[in-house]
Amino acid sequence: MKIMPNRLDLGFQKYQKEFEDKALEVLRSGWYVLGNELRSFEEEFATYVGAKHCVGLANGLDALWLAFRVLGIGEGDEVIVPANTYIASVMGITINRATPVFVEPDAYYNLDASKIEAAITEKTKAILVVHLYGQAAQMDAITALCKKYHLRLVEDCAQSHGAKFHGQMTGTFGDFGCFSFYPSKNLGAFGDAGAIVTDDPKLADSMRTYRNYGSEKRYYNKVVGANSRLDELQAGLLRVKLSHVEELTQERIDLANKYLAGIRNPKIQLPETREGCGHVWHQFVIRCAQRDALKQYLEDKGIGTIIHYPIPPHLSEAYAGLGFKKGSFPITEGYANTVLSIPMYNGMTDEVQRVVIDAINEF
Ligand SMILES: Cc1ncc(COP(=O)(O)O)c(C=O)c1O
Repeated sequence: MKIMPNRLDLGFQKYQKEFEDKALEVLRSGWYVLGNELRSFEEEFATYVGAKHCVGLANGLDALWLAFRVLGIGEGDEVIVPANTYIASVMGITINRATPVFVEPDAYYNLDASKIEAAITEKTKAILVVHLYGQAAQMDAITALCKKYHLRLVEDCAQSHGAKFHGQMTGTFGDFGCFSFYPSKNLGAFGDAGAIVTDDPKLADSMRTYRNYGSEKRYYNKVVGANSRLDELQAGLLRVKLSHVEELTQERIDLANKYLAGIRNPKIQLPETREGCGHVWHQFVIRCAQRDALKQYLEDKGIGTIIHYPIPPHLSEAYAGLGFKKGSFPITEGYANTVLSIPMYNGMTDEVQRVVIDAINEF
């Protein structure tokens, strides 16, 4: 049996008729950008998250860099960001010529709140928190620091659709919650898509202006913006997915619980959930000192896995200019050398999961 790390085709098949009907409806409508599907999706997603406003964008990276642009954060400003994240989080900062200030992660792979204060300087303007793998970061401590130091708070929710911290949805703690709907995300489109949520009507209006060439009124351009619009087809298809998001999330939680109960191997460290955090399991990430051997062993048995992420942003070629060396962030680098994401997707059968569990236990 060949087992893939992800199966997007199963996600489509589950609601195939609804997706096909919606796609045809949009195609036949003759309206493809900035229309009723987007408006409805924005309303429905804001309601789901518990935010006042949602603005659909072209992808998650745009959500991040436009958030900092709208907040006026740029050259000479510092933004605190977890060292242990996907590189897009960092690019959202550096596209604006602001400086990323990396902070090591805690035991849950998220920004270690106890290490943030030491990284704050006169130049610090914001914290970018990332709810990695589907688990909320420690938001009580982080929001308290933002208040104390008058910092903006942006949340990277690309992996945390529906994840909560003490009952409150990720994306609603700060100035902007930035979402990606890349196909493999928990709420995934059928192409690139993204959005921000915010409670501030001025920030929402400004984001609407920025996403459409900086114009509120056609051909009157107030600022140099972007072309970052979530199109009608993706918005319509996302509405279908969103109507099933609770059951899709529950399915992931059930899968994760089966892994947690079934994997028993002293060589394997299972993921932990912080008390009060609702994990939505974008990834199920285990750790193993012999990670590369484990990956190869699973590959030989036909089980595909992914490393999220093999090279931390501070060691990537793209950020060589920041001058970090191996050993600059040892906890992050330790994770990069030991983490492994095992198959986790909607539509995974008991039989497939049993094969994965047995293989890992036999390693
Ligand atoms: C944590 C994180 N931030 C940002 C992004 C960027 O999203 P997108 O690929 O939609 O630009 C991703 C996903 O790719 C991500 O995982």
